[in-house]
Order: sequence, then C-alpha cells, then structure tokens
Amino acid sequence: MRSVVALGLLLLGRLSAACGNDKHDDREWSPEELAELEAKWGTEYGFSGIGSFAHLPYVKCLVDPSVQFDIAVIGAPFDTAVTYRPGARFGPRSIRHASSRQTSFRAFNPRANINPYMNWAKIIDCGDIPITPFDNNIAREQMTQAFEYLGRRQSVSALAPKPKLMTLGGDHSLTLPALRALKAIYGKPIRVLHFDAHLDTWNPLAYPSHWGITEFTHGSMFWMANKEGLLYNETSRASVHAGLRTRLTGSDWTDNEDDTSQNWVRFSADQIDEIGTAGIIDGIMSILGTEDPVYLSVDIDVLDPAFAPGTGTPEPGGWTTRELIRILRGIEGLNVVGADVVEVSPAYQNSGEETSLAAAQVVYELLSSMVKKGLADMGKEGAATQKDEL
Ligand SMILES: *[C@@H]1O[C@H](CO)[C@@H](O)[C@H](O)[C@H]1NC(C)=O
Repeated sequence: MRSVVALGLLLLGRLSAACGNDKHDDREWSPEELAELEAKWGTEYGFSGIGSFAHLPYVKCLVDPSVQFDIAVIGAPFDTAVTYRPGARFGPRSIRHASSRQTSFRAFNPRANINPYMNWAKIIDCGDIPITPFDNNIAREQMTQAFEYLGRRQSVSALAPKPKLMTLGGDHSLTLPALRALKAIYGKPIRVLHFDAHLDTWNPLAYPSHWGITEFTHGSMFWMANKEGLLYNETSRASVHAGLRTRLTGSDWTDNEDDTSQNWVRFSADQIDEIGTAGIIDGIMSILGTEDPVYLSVDIDVLDPAFAPGTGTPEPGGWTTRELIRILRGIEGLNVVGADVVEVSPAYQNSGEETSLAAAQVVYELLSSMVKKGLADMGKEGAATQKDEL
C-alpha cells in the first residue's frame, strides 16, 4: 500500500513537472505507470462519462476497418417507416443513457453466473449508423451495408466464430436490413424470435393503398423478409412471435392465416396467464432449439404501456418488464447470431426513463446470454473466473 501511495505521489510530481514547462512529456511511460494512471483516473461511475452503452469502449467502427470485436452494440437511429408515433430515432441515445448504471465493475449477472463485460468477449460500442431521415430506400441500403460490413469483421476470440451485432433501434423496419445482412454472411436463411404486440408480417396491401404501395414499413418487414427468402422455411414452425395482442385487419382471421403461411408460430400475451413464463419458455425452446441460428428481435411494445409507454404503437394488456426478463433468461440456450431492441421512442416515456431502462436491461440480458452461450458451446459453462483460463 505504502509503495502504491509513493508511486502515486511520484507520478503526481512528474505530471505537475510536465505541466510546469511548455513542452509535452514525450518520454516512454512504463506499463506500471499507465496502470497507475488508469487505477487513479480511469473509473467511470454510473453518472459520469460521455455515454457509450454501459461505458463500453466507443469506436466509430464504420470508419475504422481495423477494429475487431466479438460483440458490437450499434445504434440505428431511424424512424421514418412508422405508422403512428415517430421518435424512435432518439432510441439509441436514450437506451445508452439508461444503461449508465451498467459498469463493468458492477455487472455480474447472478442468473447467468457471469459478468458479460468481464469475460471472454470483446464487447464495444460502435456508435450509430448515419441514416438519412429523408429517403427510406437509401436508409434501408445504408443499414443493410452497415450491418453486413460490421458483421463480416474478424472476431477476437475463438469462442466467437463470427462477431455479433446488438442493434439499438430505431423503428422495427431495421430488422429487414439486419436479416438481409445475416443471409449474406451466413449464406442461409435464419430463424427469428420476435417479441412484439404486433405481427409485423403484414402484407403491405393491408394498409390503405389507393395512392400506391409502400412495402418497407415497421409492420411489413417480416413479410418482405419472407418474400426475399431471408427466413428459414424448412418447417412450417420456423419462427416465433411472443407477446401478441394486436387488432387484425378486417373482420376475420386472414392476418393470422397469412402469418401461419409465412411459417410463424404465435404466442399471445394472454397465454402467460395459463402457462406462465415457464410455458412460454418451453414453447419457444421446443420450436427453436439450441443449434439453429436465431435472430432475436425485441420490440419494446411487447411490454404493457404501464411499463413502456415510450414507444411508437402502444397496446394495453402486455407483459411486465419482469416477465419479459424472466423469459429472456429462460431462453439463454438459443443460438442467437444477432439481436435488436427497437421502437423505444423516448419522447413518450416518463422522467424516470422506465422504457429505456427496460430496453437497456434487455440488452444486458441478451449480452449475458451471448457470452454464456459461447462458454457453453466450448464446454466451459459456469465458471465465473473463466477469463483467466481462456
Ligand atoms: C423456401 O424459400 C426458398 C427461398 O426463397 C424457396 O425457393 C422455397 O420454395 C421455399 N420453400 C418453401 C417450402 O416454402
């Protein structure tokens, strides 16, 4: 202890000497001295720092091809494909802000038995994709290229054969560019697990179309994905919706029948009252398994507006934040190759940030599961101190 204090004083002396004369100190700093500076000044408390997700290192990955990572948080501030309240372009900033109390030194996840930020995976915040708010065709192309460009990066750890993207939305239409990128990268269609109040497999003709049809919306991106062959279709029970409670078009079940014909299985919000979170978890896992690549998309409107009013198309009667988190914890065995949290529209949330807090927690749980899955796949599950052995 005394020697640490002594080194500290020594350093302080050198620093003030360096400040005292005009020329900068260009001598070599030893690793010990740099470590001492880090220990002294490197801490970011929950309320400090300039606001990357969970205080992770922030790098503009899109302009630096040399940056490598195992998992990247990437913002997609885009909201011009919505049908009701706009504002999700402010989602990434707001979710990052609400993640402030996730600091690497206090992020051990008891249910997962790991700290996702202090384990094998190099997790960084790649910042935001600069997406035009003026033209959705250009915006879609920008997102597709950005996701593919980042998804093709070299991973750092052998535990991550390919790097994974954790996208902060943005409106839900961004899932189409994400699925296009995954199809290109994996060379095959992907299964989807979709938490949402709404189907989002809507034929664009279901919207008033007298003046023309716009296919790319936050309610039809899965319909487009199906048409483009981006979704796994070797079984009719290929992808899963969970938390549904939307009204349907017209006066019959056509929307649901269309959805079934696109190979989706539906779990409604109400089902949780009969089968509980455990029943929802079992249902999802029995369909998706632990091997096939799955894209996990969380529309924050799966939560009840009591818990997440800050969203574009709120629907009463949804799940609690605790129920959603419990379900996410229960499906940690899925082979998630990419994920998003979308439709956080902070202008409609309350000053306590409940919606963005829920979204930030969802991201934390998904990151925990991705890191844990990497350990499980290598038969190294469970050890909290695994990092040193890898
Ligand atoms: C599955 O998708 C592929 C690619 O779009 C398509 O060629 C094929 O006909 C589809 N199969 C079924 C059973 O729908």
